[in-house]
Amino acid sequence: MGEAKFHTVRGYQLLEQNKKLLTPAMEDYLEMIYRYSLAEDYLRVNTLSELLNVQASSVTKMIQKLHELGLIHYRKYGIISLTENGREIGQYLLERHNVLEKFLRMLSNDDSLLIETELIEHSISPETLDNIKVFNEYLSRKPEIMEDFQAFKTAYYRNDGA
Ligand code: CO
Repeated sequence: MGEAKFHTVRGYQLLEQNKKLLTPAMEDYLEMIYRYSLAEDYLRVNTLSELLNVQASSVTKMIQKLHELGLIHYRKYGIISLTENGREIGQYLLERHNVLEKFLRMLSNDDSLLIETELIEHSISPETLDNIKVFNEYLSRKPEIMEDFQAFKTAYYRNDGA
């Protein structure tokens, strides 16, 4: 499999296996826990509740579900960490987020991009995501095409598409 494919094939397979069990909210939790785990060894329910801007009681419920799916360890004092499978899925989810965000940022610098990324990431197919990743890669190697696009876009809006 070439460089263009996701490095997180295992994470994708695990996500597919758990597809019917993982809601968009659960995906958001795993993505956030993984993001945080890149810098810290574990996190607490309270921290996660702040990061996701949800009540600690909701976090506790969600953590129990993820624990039942074998995706996280949940220890005393509200300490959370990812299992091997949870880590694989989280890595895939973060990469999925980053690929989409990068793509949308090439189209515009709008503030709403992050919100849109959060909405789109849960519904995009893996095939389209792979294609977007290749497209991002292509454009990043050909800056002249992006420059031409930006000029075209500016002219297009100025002339109302005419
Ligand atoms: Co996200």
